[in-house]
This record gives sequence, structure tokens and C-alpha cells, in this order.
Amino acid sequence: MFFGVDYYPEQWPKARWDTDAKMMRAAGMNVVRIAEFAWSRMEPVKGQYDFTWLDEIIAVMAEQDIRVVLGTPTATPPKWLMDENPDIYPVDLYGIQKGFGTRRHYCSVNPVYRELSKRIAGEMAEHFKYDKNIIAWQVDNEFDTGCYCSHCRKGFQNWLREKYQTIEHLNEHWGTVFWSQTYQDFEQVILPAYTAFDGFTQGGAVNGIAGAPFNHNPGLLLDYNRFKSDAVVEFQNIQIREIRQCTSLPITHNCMGHFSELDYFDLGKDLDFISWDSYPSSAWGKGTSTQLAMAHDLMRGIKGKNFWVMEHQSGPVGWQTFGDTPEPGQLRLWTYQALAHGAEAMLYFRWRSALYGTEQLCHGIIDHDGIGRRRYEEIARIGKELKQLGELFVDSNTINEAVLIKSYDNFWSHRIQPYNSQFDYNVLLMEYYHALAANQIPADVTGIDVDFSSYRLVLMPAFNLMTDEIRSKCEKYVKEGGSLLITFKSGTKNWDNGMSERTKPGYFRELAGIELEEYDSLNYGRKVRVRGLDYECLARSFCEVIQCNGASVLASYESHYYAGKAAVTVNQYGKGRVYYVGCDLEPDALTALMKHIVKESRVTPILTAAAEGIDAVRKSISDKTYIIITNHNNREERVEFEKSYYDLLGERMLHGQETIEAYGVRILEEIL
Ligand code: GAL
Repeated sequence: MFFGVDYYPEQWPKARWDTDAKMMRAAGMNVVRIAEFAWSRMEPVKGQYDFTWLDEIIAVMAEQDIRVVLGTPTATPPKWLMDENPDIYPVDLYGIQKGFGTRRHYCSVNPVYRELSKRIAGEMAEHFKYDKNIIAWQVDNEFDTGCYCSHCRKGFQNWLREKYQTIEHLNEHWGTVFWSQTYQDFEQVILPAYTAFDGFTQGGAVNGIAGAPFNHNPGLLLDYNRFKSDAVVEFQNIQIREIRQCTSLPITHNCMGHFSELDYFDLGKDLDFISWDSYPSSAWGKGTSTQLAMAHDLMRGIKGKNFWVMEHQSGPVGWQTFGDTPEPGQLRLWTYQALAHGAEAMLYFRWRSALYGTEQLCHGIIDHDGIGRRRYEEIARIGKELKQLGELFVDSNTINEAVLIKSYDNFWSHRIQPYNSQFDYNVLLMEYYHALAANQIPADVTGIDVDFSSYRLVLMPAFNLMTDEIRSKCEKYVKEGGSLLITFKSGTKNWDNGMSERTKPGYFRELAGIELEEYDSLNYGRKVRVRGLDYECLARSFCEVIQCNGASVLASYESHYYAGKAAVTVNQYGKGRVYYVGCDLEPDALTALMKHIVKESRVTPILTAAAEGIDAVRKSISDKTYIIITNHNNREERVEFEKSYYDLLGERMLHGQETIEAYGVRILEEIL
């Protein structure tokens, strides 16, 4: 298994390299990722390449049996390149061009930049093609999107021409007759930039979610999001093609978990494997155990395959301020949680805390003074344990009976029109993932293209943009005995982001056996009481008033003018069932409802009892079954289970229950 670190040899004197490599080896490391920001060192002057220093560091690493992942440096085009081609800088929605001084200062649509990126990737690939110590490539670093320059406008127009063929077709799909926005030619089509009724000064910035002004035509906005995402995929693929001309080594990109500006399912298609960067607790936020678990599951879901963690926090992280210092045991805990959810390689960010630059405060495994202390010791302990466990996590399979569907198109559509200012699609997905986890049900998280037939329960919260194909897929699945869960804000729009003519809930009406009489967006703190089988709670953002056409009621409203009407229903359809949740539910209520749903759907919990903050995953490795439990609480917790297990790290048998220390980990092999 690969276990290692992100290393920046260009930031340290050569005299130190050997010491670093030896310390890495002593911690059990066998891989480094290098070079992803080092363009100015690789090509100090236009056309003059210097890869000798990289050859040297690769050799130093090889001495210690440490392999190398090489990153292409296109996230940081150097100053000479930008001075020569200032057109590459991205433009914001107010038309202001951004400047030099940080990173990602490029527009991925810019044809000159595409050419220059291709060239540097090609030069690297050519130079390193015979180096046996390189094991993989990473393209760029953490792709982002968003630019409003003239190349983007042209690119968008071409993208639309390809999609719609005729301008009449585009007008029809977007409904441009509204407010006289009809276009006569693709060349007239705008980017959704700053506009008269802009959406910020008119109160369009919802929920603190930044993005394009929302008052543009929703069809245009959605297509712009799709175009931006496709443009990055194209940008990436230019480099992939270039590298593949020289080598058959696997190629990856380091994704960002829940980040949703880019369609990761599209991005992943041309990559050999997915990797991602996990920062559980930084200046930018702190993830709960389920948020982290879900991010790992989504990363596994991109290709339905195990992934790498290419960067994992190894100390306090931030730029001007930094987040919490990982407590003793937390780096180990997060590492095993990642491995449990499908990581099969772990690299930490970064080796040593930098002495200069924006990221002086993104602390590494070893401190500014080059000394490894508590965090180094903890990582060395993990390295040792992983040797003991052998190749356990490589090629392991995660076995789940439930799947949660994420759609980037739906994320963008909901952001364009959330209906209620408290609504956030990603948060809703997280709430459903959490409700499963609270019932000890781990889930796959993936896109709508997944084969439903291997799951007992499919959850499609707020799947609002729909097509006939997706409806047929759902119908077939349920008819044959599957359980499908859908929620409010589902099935009522077509794929163009326009409203469907169908009676709500639109594409799901027959399947769910219901009709919506109306819906109610809850504003200014108004709440509506809901009562279910064994729970009561308050809806706080959105209530749909349901009329049953064959479905049975699982929960009803208890206040406001629709008191007594159905809020949650279930419909028998063919051999299966469709659950419809017509409003937002508080976490405990959702957990209670989910308990009922998973039981009826015959989805089996991993543990029979566990506290919040316990994460459990079931895996099959060779022909054995394992469960991996991580305790994210800073106190010991008791868990209960039905079977008997052998504790691989503790080397003892467990029957029925176990007490796990604060931040503790158990890797358990099922005994038949
Ligand atoms: C990641 C990024 C790294 C570094 C790290 C810490 O998002 O890929 O280069 O910036 O965050 O801030």
C-alpha cells in the first residue's frame, strides 16, 4: 500500500533532501507527490526547461525506496508567462480581470493557456518517461471553475451551438420569449455576468452561497454551469492525452470532496483513479464524522472504485489564521476512516511546515525547525500498523445495500432557484446520509447512472431536474422490488431547468401515488408541526401539501392551515415501495423515519447500537468480511453487534460488544 507525503523539494536546500527522505522512510513512507506548483523552477525562462533538480530528488527518494507521483504545475503559471500573455488571467462577473499573486490565475478556456499547459505537460512526460521510480501522474491541482472573459463567451456560444444546433432550438429550451430575451444568432448569447437587475442588490444571494447572479434565465444559468464544468474537463483531458503519448502510468487529479462547481462524475471518466484532498478541521471549516465519511464515499462513487487521499491534513491548517491542532489520535483516526471508506493510498499534506509564502501556517508533519514531534510519531505509528496489516485495504470492496444519489445538475439548479432561502441541496443530501449513518447503515454515494439493481434502497432527495429515462429507470427498479425514497422539490423540472407541465410531483406522481395540492415556503422563522409514527418535529423550510392517490400516510402536518394533511407517504408500486418525504424534518425525526424505512426495505445495520460519532463500514477483502469502526468522539464509546470478530490490531476476539477509546479504531474480521 502507498503511504507517504506531499513534498516540496524546491522550497528546501538540497543538503536537507537526504535527511527528509530518511525520516520519511523511518515513518514507513514509500511515496511522495512532488512538482505540482514548481513551473518557475522547471521552465525558468520561456522554452528553457530544467528538470535536473527533479531527477536529483527522485534519485534521493529512490535511495530510500520511496516512489514518486509527479504533478503538472498548471495551477501556477509563472510571472514571465503571465506577463507575456496577460489575456490568460480570469475575469470576474463584474468584468474585472484578476491579477498575479496567488494561484489558479488562469482561465481554462483560454486557447493560449491550453497550448502552454499542453506543452509543459508534454515536456515533463517526455523527460520522465523512462524513470522507473515514478508511479503515477497528477494533472494540475484542485480544479475550480468560473470566468467571464471573451474566450469563455466564445466557448460558451460554441458549446451551445453544439448542444442545440439551431438558435430556435435554444430559444425554445430556455424560454427566451420571456422578457424579450430571444436570440437571433449564437453569437448574441451572453454569459450570465453582471446585469441590470443583478441579483445581489435585489436580494438574490441566498444562504451565503456565492455564484452567478440568480436573476438570469434559469436555463442559461444551468447551461453556463454545465459549460464551465465541461471546459475544465476538456482542459484536463488535453494534458491527459499529452501525458499518455509518453507513458501508460495511471493519471489522477486531486478532487475536493463535497466541492460541487465541477461535475466530478464527468471529470473522473478520463482519469485512471480518483484522488482527493481531505482537511477535516482547518481555518475554513470543521467536518463532522458523517460529513467526512460522506465525502470519502462520494469520492469512491465517482468511478465506483477505491481512491487515494492525495493530501491529508497533518497539522493545524490555514492561511492567515489556522484551525484546531489535531488532537493526539485524530490523524490516525481520520486515516483509518479514509481507508475504511475506500482509500487505498494515503499521503499527508505536507512534509515540513513552510518558512515562507501564503501557506506558512499550513503546518506539515514536521515543524518549521525540521524536527518531527508528536504528529510525526503518530504518523510513524500508522506506518508501522499498515505494514502489520499488509495490503488489506488495496482492492478491498465496500459492501452497501443503500445508495444516495448526487446530481451536480440538480445542485446547480437548486442553487439557481432554492425556492426557500434556507434550502441547500448538499445539506439535504448530508441530512439523509446522516439519517442512514445514525441507523448504522453505510451507503454508497454516486451519480444517477449507477445500476440500482444491487441496492435495496435508493435515495434521491430533491431530484428535481428529470428526464423520461430517469423516470423509467426508477419505475423499473421499484416494480422489481426496490425501495425508492424521494423528497420535496423532486420531479417538477425538466432537464433544461424549466418547470414541467405535469401535475406535481411531476415525473414522480404515479410512482409515489400522490399529488401535491400546493406547497409552502416557510419564511421569517415560521415553523410547521409534523407528527410521524413515533416522532414529532418542526418543518423549518418547505412543506408540500400531499393528497394521496393510493399512497398511505406515514406523517401528517399538525399546524398551519394544512393541519391534518399528509406530509410523508409510502406507496406500494409493483413489488417495491416509494417513500415520499414532503417537508424538511429535524435530524432526530429523520433518523426515526429512516429506521422504519430501512427495516421495511430489509437493509441491515452493521452495529446494533452505537452513539453519534461512531462510524462503521463493512468491507469484503478476498473472501473475508470486515467491519471497520472509528470513534470520532473524545470519550470512550460502547458499540454492540451481533456477530463475533477478530480484532486485527488488538489481536483478540470480540463477541457482541466492545468499548472503544476516544478517537479509537477497530479493524475487525468477521468470524463465521
Ligand atoms: C489544498 C491544496 C494544497 C494546500 C492545502 C492547504 O487545498 O491542494 O496545495 O493549499 O490545501 O491549504
